Amino acid sequence: MNMTRVATGLLMSAVSMLACIRQPAPRTQPAAAPAAAAPVEAWTLKGDSGKGALIFKQFCTPCHGDGGRGDGPASAALNPKPADFTDAKRAAASTDQQIYTTAREGGPAVGKSPLMVAWKASLNEQQLQDVVAFVRSLSKPAAR
Ligand code: HEC
Repeated sequence: MNMTRVATGLLMSAVSMLACIRQPAPRTQPAAAPAAAAPVEAWTLKGDSGKGALIFKQFCTPCHGDGGRGDGPASAALNPKPADFTDAKRAAASTDQQIYTTAREGGPAVGKSPLMVAWKASLNEQQLQDVVAFVRSLSKPAAR
């Protein structure tokens, strides 16, 4: 039994705990409106960061931490560690759409770790937009 095993075990229990609370999001949107593959420049984030804060608290803090600094209780077992969302320089290097795609499709879709899972099965389109708006607000001091 080495530390990596212990850490992996801890992570797996964290992930399975999360799996329990991940229920299919109620489909409130008409099925006829799938997220269209819009051109990059036409994409705008339409999220409510206040609502996103509640979603973040429920789904993201175990790894990303209460304040989004990448220091949640499960982060000890994560390699690579989740990014510090309050780092304005880092945030400026990514677009709203990249953050949205990461949250929706998971780490591997954007060349990042599979430990960052896809949230599209748990969060509906509006919830995804809301949580991304909250993540973005963390790097803007005025909105904190
Ligand atoms: C099981 C742990 C875990 C949970 C829960 C989790 N994440 Fe992550 N997330 C990670 C890890 C690990 C990374 C770093 C991946 C990498 O850098 O390769 C990451 C990276 C990210 C990134 C990319 C940041 C960047 O610029 O590099 C975004 C955005 C993100 N997560 C959003 C979310 C959101 C939103 C939620 C909640 C809906 C969430 N994550 C829940 C583990 C998690």
